[in-house]
Amino acid sequence: MLFGKHISPAIFILPVPLLFRTTCYYYRKAYYRAFFGDPSACAVNERRLSKNYTGERVFPLILQNIHRYAFYLAAIVMVVLWWDALLTLTQIKSGARVPGLTVGSIVFLLNVIFLSLYTFSCHSYRHLAGGCVNCFSRTAQTKARHGIWQRITHLNENHMKWAWFSLFSVALTDFYVRLVSTGAIPDVRFF
Ligand code: FES
Repeated sequence: MLFGKHISPAIFILPVPLLFRTTCYYYRKAYYRAFFGDPSACAVNERRLSKNYTGERVFPLILQNIHRYAFYLAAIVMVVLWWDALLTLTQIKSGARVPGLTVGSIVFLLNVIFLSLYTFSCHSYRHLAGGCVNCFSRTAQTKARHGIWQRITHLNENHMKWAWFSLFSVALTDFYVRLVSTGAIPDVRFF
């Protein structure tokens, strides 16, 4: 069987986080600076050779605008990941699902929390919640949107931090699952 033995089925889901991360505003800033030196850094003179700089308004960089759609897909993936994490808080005993807790449950929960903090501190989500509104205090709906927008703004202030925390938590969680699934370590059960 091709999938499962040689290629992980996780490959199907990979395009979503890949698209979400590569088009993320924070990562864009990081890799534009690190790999293209453009812009170099704050308060550093531009060393642009071409006068025809068009930013992200034309092809190919205009494709970065796909980020808002990547956010919708990432939000769907978050539902699945939360479901997975909550399942780790249970175990099957005598054919019935009962509460349970292992080291893996904690690993999964931490991972999904970091991923949620990253996903829902997204600039596109912030715009979705509070963008295109002329007056927040006009109706009950716009007031509610203002409340959500404020909370996202609060999270958004640490978006860079959540980007890195979640990146490492995904890698470490995958590594932990690999170790347990190959029998290298046991998934210690607390109850
Ligand atoms: Fe970073 Fe949207 S801006 S995930």
